[in-house]
Amino acid sequence: MSARVLDGQALAGRMQQEITPQVAAFAARRGRPPGLAIVLVGQHPASEVYVRNKLKAGRDVGFRADLERLPDTASLGDLLALVERLNESDVHDGILVQAPLPKAFGPDAAARVFDVIAPDKDVDGFTAVNVGRMVQGRPALVACTPSGIIELLVREGIPLEGRRACVVGRSDIVGKPMALLLLQRHATVTICHSKTADLPAVCREADILVAAIGRAGLVTKAFVKPGAAVIDVGMNQVTDAGLAAQLFPEGHPRLAKFRERGSVLVGDVHPEVAEVAGALTPVPGGVGPLTVTMLMMNTLRAARARMDGTR
Ligand code: GUN
Repeated sequence: MSARVLDGQALAGRMQQEITPQVAAFAARRGRPPGLAIVLVGQHPASEVYVRNKLKAGRDVGFRADLERLPDTASLGDLLALVERLNESDVHDGILVQAPLPKAFGPDAAARVFDVIAPDKDVDGFTAVNVGRMVQGRPALVACTPSGIIELLVREGIPLEGRRACVVGRSDIVGKPMALLLLQRHATVTICHSKTADLPAVCREADILVAAIGRAGLVTKAFVKPGAAVIDVGMNQVTDAGLAAQLFPEGHPRLAKFRERGSVLVGDVHPEVAEVAGALTPVPGGVGPLTVTMLMMNTLRAARARMDGTR
């Protein structure tokens, strides 16, 4: 049996259709559209693509979406000053500083930037204030990837209450907020990481398994309880021919694509998992598009809250 495909791309499209008239209503009432500012520092090919997608999605739903670029030569001080200017901007309701930041900014640069973003414009949900609000179950702007995954699970009718969920990965951006959101939905949650003993056995307990480790194809059939819902957050560009051959059988169209292009985008979940899982998100076309859509939701929400004084 092959797992049901959880089509994040299709859901993202439906949600954007839901958001668009709400954006138009906001603009009609307030005399301006919700505004999103995205800050990009230096040159980073993957970030260029992500930022382009976010700007396009924003403009497609009717936002004002501005790119604020800083050159490679900019300092952390320049970036903090830009964020402070955006905090004061009347036309920007959301601020997103695209990570990663240049290495020269130092290891704590991201935290220093997030400490400066006004929490009520923090549409990434990365500031300590929003993380704290979320942990306490108070209204908050919540990180887009985990909130998109909850939206997908709920809309696909996958029960969470009383179920066992396992999150592999403990990043501040995905793993930790994912675990908390599942907990808020009354799942029994385990967080696994690189030091977890007998990782496959722990994962096999899960009715909902979220893989957010950043290792191509790490989650094999041995990690998956038959019938489980498996969410693949991984976005790995595989350039190694041996690894590509381990992931896809001879004759598979993705292997042919790899041989044509020299790389292929794969998740953290091995394609063989489709043979045992009950439901599975594809890569690409699963979690990625939902992350962008949740950014739109957060920006609309931030705009309404700023104008109406609600949260
Ligand atoms: N870099 C990769 N993903 C993200 C994200 O969701 N937000 C920001 N700000 N940077 C990222």
